[in-house]
Amino acid sequence: MPPSRSAANPSPKVAVIGAGNVGATCAQRILERGLADVALVDLVEGLAAGKALDLAEAAPLERHDGSIVGSTAYDVVEGARVVVVTAGLARKPGMSRSDLLEANAKIVQSIIPQVVSRAPSAVLIMVTNPLDAMTYLAWRLSGFPAERVLGMAGVLDAARLRSFVAQRLKASVKEVEALVLGGHGDSMVPLPRQTTVSGVPLPDLLPPPEVEKLIQRTREGGAEVVKLLKTGSAFYAPASSVAEMVRAILKDEKRLLPACVYLKGQYGLKEVFCGAPVRLGAGGVEEIVEIPLAPDEKAALAASADGVRREMQEVDRLIGAAA
Ligand code: NAI
Ligand code: 2OP
Repeated sequence: MPPSRSAANPSPKVAVIGAGNVGATCAQRILERGLADVALVDLVEGLAAGKALDLAEAAPLERHDGSIVGSTAYDVVEGARVVVVTAGLARKPGMSRSDLLEANAKIVQSIIPQVVSRAPSAVLIMVTNPLDAMTYLAWRLSGFPAERVLGMAGVLDAARLRSFVAQRLKASVKEVEALVLGGHGDSMVPLPRQTTVSGVPLPDLLPPPEVEKLIQRTREGGAEVVKLLKTGSAFYAPASSVAEMVRAILKDEKRLLPACVYLKGQYGLKEVFCGAPVRLGAGGVEEIVEIPLAPDEKAALAASADGVRREMQEVDRLIGAAA
């Protein structure tokens, strides 16, 4: 019987660093959606290998032919087209994402050089928090062009808003679209007029206090899950968000998705990593799209970017101290 997978046309490889809740679920989503083969890396002996084995054993039931390897060694990253970095500490109740900066910066510092030497042409998707600062750190350490270093947050924050709107209006999630810009923190900027149900903007469907409630719940969406879980943070929706971005890149979809990217004057913001709508394709960030914003939205975005800048300065201080 001929093999079903062509050696002449191998599947692309996605490397996922960190085999914890987000990393392992990312691997699962990527495999089960048939997007790529996966290489999973974690510093805990046996963790990535064990999860990879478990995922491989699920393949006949999930009916995919994707392959997965797990290791503590970075050789498995060789040749990856996309590298997703999920390694790092997650929040516990009462912690903000910024509280993770110093510890996770050390982790990211140990990972990026290993990734760069094995996958020098990859698109890097950062997930580790605080997201915007860690994306900046990865960009600085990798030496990659800004188009190939981005962070996952906007797709997740928008998915949360979409789910809350669908629940509130008893609509199908399939009919709800949303856009959330800015840093991945309490100052994120959900856009009510770009949040639509079958094309109808949210402010035309609900009175302002109701809209505000949904916006505020979105800003606190991560914390709401942390408070319930008590021992960690969200991972199902984050992993789905990563898979959406991975697909846009591998399939060269050129989809308009919000992501944390390096702004070079767009929205009046310069030299800062911040969430903005981007066209995601094979080259990574192929375009940063400027949509018209109301003056209060523009001000909120600038304030959010200021918060990220402060974290970027902290990253600079840490890198300087390490040098
Ligand atoms: P987790 O604790 O379940 O997994 C983290 C994994 O990273 C662990 O398995 C750990 O062994 C591994 N790790 C730590 N240092 C490492 C190193 N130097 N090299 C390789 N692996 C290493 O945490 P979870 O829930 O998977 O979250 C991971 C990160 O993602 C956290 O920083 C969390 O805040 C962030 N996150 C970000 C989101 C976003 O929207 N950007 C959404 C969800 C989580
Ligand atoms: C979240 O928003 C922890 O950043 C992560 O769930």
